[in-house]
Amino acid sequence: MITDKDIKEKWFSFFNDHGFVRIDSSSIVPENDATVLFTTAGMHPLVPYLLGAKHPAGNRICDVQRCIRTNDIDSVGDAWHLTCFEMLGNWFLGDCPKEEMIALSYEFLTNPKYLGLNKDQLATTVFEGDETAPKDEVAHDAWKKCGIKEVFYQNKDENWWALGGGVGPCGPDSEMFLDTGKPKCCESCSPACDCGKYVEIWNDVFMQYKVDIAGEQAKLLERPNIDTGLGLERVVAILNGAKSVYDTGIFKKVIDFIREHAEIKYEDNESATRSYRIITDHLRASVFVLGDKHGVVPSNVGQGYILRRFIRRAVNHARNIKLDTKYFSDIVDIFVDKHGEDYSDIQNNREFIKTELVKEVEKFSKALEDGHKEFEKVISGIEKHKQFAAQNGEVVENIISGKAAFRLFDTFGFPFEITRELALERGYTVDEEGYKKAFEEHQEKSRTASAGAFKGGLADSSYESTKLHTATHLMQAGLQKYVSADIRQKGSNITPERLRFDFNCDHKLTPEELKNVEDFVNDAIKAEIPVTVETLTVEQAKASGALGVFDSKYGDKVTVYTIGNLSKEICGGPHAKNTKELHHFKIIKEESSSSGIRRIKAVLD
Ligand code: ALA
Repeated sequence: MITDKDIKEKWFSFFNDHGFVRIDSSSIVPENDATVLFTTAGMHPLVPYLLGAKHPAGNRICDVQRCIRTNDIDSVGDAWHLTCFEMLGNWFLGDCPKEEMIALSYEFLTNPKYLGLNKDQLATTVFEGDETAPKDEVAHDAWKKCGIKEVFYQNKDENWWALGGGVGPCGPDSEMFLDTGKPKCCESCSPACDCGKYVEIWNDVFMQYKVDIAGEQAKLLERPNIDTGLGLERVVAILNGAKSVYDTGIFKKVIDFIREHAEIKYEDNESATRSYRIITDHLRASVFVLGDKHGVVPSNVGQGYILRRFIRRAVNHARNIKLDTKYFSDIVDIFVDKHGEDYSDIQNNREFIKTELVKEVEKFSKALEDGHKEFEKVISGIEKHKQFAAQNGEVVENIISGKAAFRLFDTFGFPFEITRELALERGYTVDEEGYKKAFEEHQEKSRTASAGAFKGGLADSSYESTKLHTATHLMQAGLQKYVSADIRQKGSNITPERLRFDFNCDHKLTPEELKNVEDFVNDAIKAEIPVTVETLTVEQAKASGALGVFDSKYGDKVTVYTIGNLSKEICGGPHAKNTKELHHFKIIKEESSSSGIRRIKAVLD
């Protein structure tokens, strides 16, 4: 039996021998990065170094990084997908020797001292080229030189790696797969198929490019890098000849534990197997998130919402296999015993993890039965409607309305994704657009109800948020100058990590408009303009041309913040004293918020 510990040891010994210095794993909740909710890859905490900053450990480093990825969450339950995994990684910083990296990958994969895989079982892919980057013949030839039989050229969808938000360092990649020996599913069967013949294990990314603003064309990086990531759990399963990641190590231990206590057994049917795996994966992910030093707890936003989805989905699947959720605490213990060895915050937070998990399970369990009844009602309502319509020769489709899905969320706590999953099992789909609309209408109502609570001020007055607040004023001025003078704030939400600004606008901002606004703010920062504040009467403020909501009574005093001749707004503050404190401003996302309203997310770095 080869363990994850064995593989980690082999990894570090191999890369140390080649001059790579081991660095620590970062937390699973990213630090100072609002572009993603969780660390999704080992390169994530290394972005500044991939963009050119000097790493204190040098320019060849390696690590093991705990990661959460939710883009494959619907595939969890099959043999190979996980939302939470450990990624072994190594980096060349400021250097991109492709042939050397491919030779290293090949040696680690095939040398009996390390993974000892048979080279004829390996297949690799490389980038086929497009208008941004050329066909990667260098990588292709390097694999051929190693003796790999099947090297597939693939397009950008498959062989280009970038961070979730599409901003940051990026580039063509070369992925390594194990050919499981299953027959080809079709003539054109390749690693891009999800038929299960090929299982991805490692990815070498040639980070030669970067994107500064979402949607723009990637530009060459002055100092290119290599970033690689190998999926630890998959490799352990493969080396043990297991049919799935869930048949080895800690996963197997948990599945065996559940089997002891659930009425329906792992092997009984496909749906049960899937439920066992989802419970195992999601509870492990919850342990990593709750155990993180950032203290995320279940909620309806951001990381908290994902955590809530993990826990509630696990509860729902426990119902499917008739497992009492009181056993979740024991499962947490099994995971903490194991992962607490490597990650001390998980060990230290054992009680916190259990308490928060149990609280969330109890909250949801109460509503679960009623929610299921409600769900059945929705389905039987549609079925009745169908029968009735059929008598008139009409056809009613199997679609659950957005309003019904929102009610299941709002009243019974069913995250949308759970409703969708239940619907799929019954051959139904859910109107996602309608759900979003119902959600937004609800938000709008609560916003109106709580208006006045902030009056343009800032809920959190940390220094980071304060600077972002000043950046928000500058950005609004930039939008008015470069996009439309009519633009006004329709909503603002600032956390210490990022600003989020909603405003009226009838079109998606062009890359040029975004760049102009960004430059406008950065020029203001470079100009080192003092931010001044004065108290004026409403009439004086109006006369001075200040922007803001004039809802105060005659004679009332308001505070007005002024940034040179660029911005003047009625606002509760606080603000930075001088624009130079903002350092550098970056727009990370521009998207639709609701009809006629656009939303920008931006950071200071
Ligand atoms: N960052 C690369 C990946 O996650 C290695 O696949």
